[in-house]
Amino acid sequence: MTVKIAVLVSGRGSNLQAIIDSIERGYIKDAAVNLVISNKADAYALERARKHGINAVFLDPGRFDRSGYDREILKLLNNYDVDLLLLAGYFRILGSEIIEAYRDRILNIHPSLLPAFKGLHAQRQAFEYGVKVAGCTVHYVDEGLDSGPIILQSCVQVLPDDTEETLTGRILEQEHIIYPEAVRLFAEGKLKVEGRKVRSLD
Ligand code: GRF
Repeated sequence: MTVKIAVLVSGRGSNLQAIIDSIERGYIKDAAVNLVISNKADAYALERARKHGINAVFLDPGRFDRSGYDREILKLLNNYDVDLLLLAGYFRILGSEIIEAYRDRILNIHPSLLPAFKGLHAQRQAFEYGVKVAGCTVHYVDEGLDSGPIILQSCVQVLPDDTEETLTGRILEQEHIIYPEAVRLFAEGKLKVEGRKVRSLD
């Protein structure tokens, strides 16, 4: 059975691209990205999706109040019979209605080693804090900020000559590895959530 995936985006969409590519080259099997939704009209992620024949929708936040907006997203997810919802650079808080409807079926990628450096500009937070090791996290989405159970993490060393930009670039390379890996594990039914712990049956 094919796992139907929807992806929420706001911008560049390099993580979306990594997932599409992983499906196309057969690393993630029995899964398809059927729908991409952006809250920004000019998100390059929409173009990336269209290039691969994926339905790409700009949903204008200006037309709805917060919960109305999430209900529109829910309608689309239901119309497409979505099994797995991915946040990939989606810079908007997801309402509890969606989280409840898709409990344990929403993943996010965050560019820090959670629980450190939650929220915006995580790479900058880590760089300015002076950490020696940084990285990224794929986690389930719950009602908190970047707080759901952790699926995968990857670390990178912070090098003496690093700038925020070079560090961000090395973290992004790891994002493009662990997000597809987490989606593969989900699609193969190999993730088990036990409280805060996620067991991978790979
Ligand atoms: C990534 O750094 C991701 O970790 C964060 O937002 C950025 C999105 O980049 N949540 P992209 O749109 O996937 O290129």
